Amino acid sequence: MTLGVNIDHVAVLREARRVNDPDILNALYVACASGADQITIHLREDRRHIQDIDASNILKHSTLPVNLECSINRDILSIVCKLKPHRATLVPEKREEVTTEGGLDVFTYEDEISYAIEQLHDSIIPVSLFVDPTLQAIEKSKELGAEMVELHTGSFANVFAMLNSSLSHSNHSIKELELPRYELQERLENSIEDIINAAKHAKKIGLEVAAGHGLNYHNVSYMMKIQEITELNIGQSIIARSVFSGLANAVKEMKRLTTR
Ligand code: PXP
Repeated sequence: MTLGVNIDHVAVLREARRVNDPDILNALYVACASGADQITIHLREDRRHIQDIDASNILKHSTLPVNLECSINRDILSIVCKLKPHRATLVPEKREEVTTEGGLDVFTYEDEISYAIEQLHDSIIPVSLFVDPTLQAIEKSKELGAEMVELHTGSFANVFAMLNSSLSHSNHSIKELELPRYELQERLENSIEDIINAAKHAKKIGLEVAAGHGLNYHNVSYMMKIQEITELNIGQSIIARSVFSGLANAVKEMKRLTTR
């Protein structure tokens, strides 16, 4: 399993104080030396964490492949084409969102996505599409010319957290998931089945399959059982754990859990 470590949250902390600490390049070196197989970053339109100069420095100094997530905004795309990451992952973006809340709408934005893939391919950058785990989205991703899909595991992770953590008792409880436990259990099983079916179908039609969003030390074992998934991109939980145990230990432990 390829472990992509998303280091955006180190930049979130830096931007909170608008200083140069913590240094994103230190995070890069530690992640590279501690078992990550890939570095993942998201150059957002609002630049709330990673800045253009970070992306450029990370690409210059990373000893690992860099997976650069970006929206289909044309200004961002032209920056990404110049940066030439090892792969670009197209993600949906809304200014007001806390984090990427769902997969790309590959139907509504089919023309824009198709244009983005063309531009990236012209710059010899392979493309992954971050999509919800539905057969229709997988089919469409193939039709649009992507090499890979990353399955959005956010719904699975939300249900898992409401069922197996104290989230439902906190002020971040997910209102629409305040349901009886048997119903949450059923939703969890359905969400896993959706991911399995989407992964199998993607592999069958020749797409590489990654997964990501909301994965952590407790729920990642579910993804490890799905043989078609060959890459996981994980950020929040690794950086959160690093506050207590250090980034090297946090990456090493996730690598241990994601080794088949
Ligand atoms: N994969 C993609 C495409 C993402 O947009 C994100 C969040 O930036 C992640 C993976 C990592 O998600 P998390 O921080 O919840 O682990």
